[in-house]
Amino acid sequence: MVGFDKDVFVADCLAAVREGPRAQQAVKEIVERAVADPRTIEAEVRPWSESPMMTIWHRSDELTVLHIVWPPDVDLYAHDHNMWATIGIYGGREDNRFYRRLPDGRIEPNTGRTLLRTDVIGLGPDVVHSVANPTREWTAALHVYGGEFFTTPRTLWSKDTLEPSRLDVDVIRGVLEAAAAQARVADQPGEAP
Ligand SMILES: [Fe+2]
Repeated sequence: MVGFDKDVFVADCLAAVREGPRAQQAVKEIVERAVADPRTIEAEVRPWSESPMMTIWHRSDELTVLHIVWPPDVDLYAHDHNMWATIGIYGGREDNRFYRRLPDGRIEPNTGRTLLRTDVIGLGPDVVHSVANPTREWTAALHVYGGEFFTTPRTLWSKDTLEPSRLDVDVIRGVLEAAAAQARVADQPGEAP
């Protein structure tokens, strides 16, 4: 079994990005190879329940690579990325809902796709999606973005009104951390339901 090395993974993604117009497809192939054998990634990272929800493996103007784990029962806000994105699941499940942008800035639900372990999805720069983990298991994924994920202006849409507002990554991170804390409490041994 060939091991997974996150530094090699990042270097391969960077090299792919510098290839130019085929960058996203090349990155998708790299992510597909990585998640094809989830055990090799699991051996490289801390157990999911002990991991930070979001770990930055690389961050620059041309590329962001994140390792993301998230707990059961999370349903995140609809958002855009304003750059292409490639997401590979290597543990659990991620339900994607996609939205159509309306002329007044709001959105309406359109299609959806469920990603399971070893599935990879490529999203174009205009895509609006929300993601949910409806299971009782943790979800673990590699996220690769074709730009600076944290400083690029992005939009979040209200769950209730589907009205847009400026996205704050720290809000998302807070939702994930709160859900993780709840999941860890639920996992405590001896806690009868
Ligand atoms: Fe996203």
